[in-house]
Amino acid sequence: MGSTDKTTNQSTFITFEGGEGTGKSTQVQRLAERLKAAGRTVVTTREPGGAPSAEEIRTLLVTGEPDRWTALSEALLNFTARAEHLEHTIRPALARDAIVLCDRFVDSTMAYQAYAGGVPPETITTLTRLVVGETMPDLTLILDLPVEVGLSRAQGRGDHENRYEKKGEAYHHKLRDAFLEIAKAEPNRCAVIDASGTIDDIADAIWSIVCERLSLSENAQ
Ligand code: TMP
Repeated sequence: MGSTDKTTNQSTFITFEGGEGTGKSTQVQRLAERLKAAGRTVVTTREPGGAPSAEEIRTLLVTGEPDRWTALSEALLNFTARAEHLEHTIRPALARDAIVLCDRFVDSTMAYQAYAGGVPPETITTLTRLVVGETMPDLTLILDLPVEVGLSRAQGRGDHENRYEKKGEAYHHKLRDAFLEIAKAEPNRCAVIDASGTIDDIADAIWSIVCERLSLSENAQ
């Protein structure tokens, strides 16, 4: 856990989750700007990646043909990258009392590799215990969008990191259901945000939730 007392400048770990094209990276930046304006120290990062060694593993995972890896190999590669990321970026930042905003974390492995990919969920839970341990997010913001809308947005970006976009619609429907199920199972940690509005509307919705959970004033920025 990043913190127990939200009224001080103690560390806090916030993750962003959701399917393809839900606008997570934009919202990570928006929240970072608002928190910095409120005087907080913020570190933004992403998975897979967030440390030099983990970024090398990212390239293996997000490029190439959809069937390049089995789902179990994907899970193991993501947890290898995560171990590096935790060691070199996340835990040092939390130790400096920063607020860490991370674009994807363990819920993505549960959704992509377990629910959609077929790896037993218990395998992901075991790896989470082993690799992540106590460093679980204080708050997870799940950006929710109809699959067709998210995929067409993601395909519109036209970047080369598109291995998962090519996995077919059924896979992406399973992902959306998985994230909603995770949110339902862990309501204290997770909040679902309707990502179909404007960037400003979504940023405001996220800001309200973060202020409430961190006991910040909504007028802080
Ligand atoms: P991004 O597009 O949000 O940057 O994430 C890269 C891709 O990696 C995305 O398609 C989701 C996928 N992914 C997994 O399959 N498992 C994981 O554990 C993580 C962190 C990401």
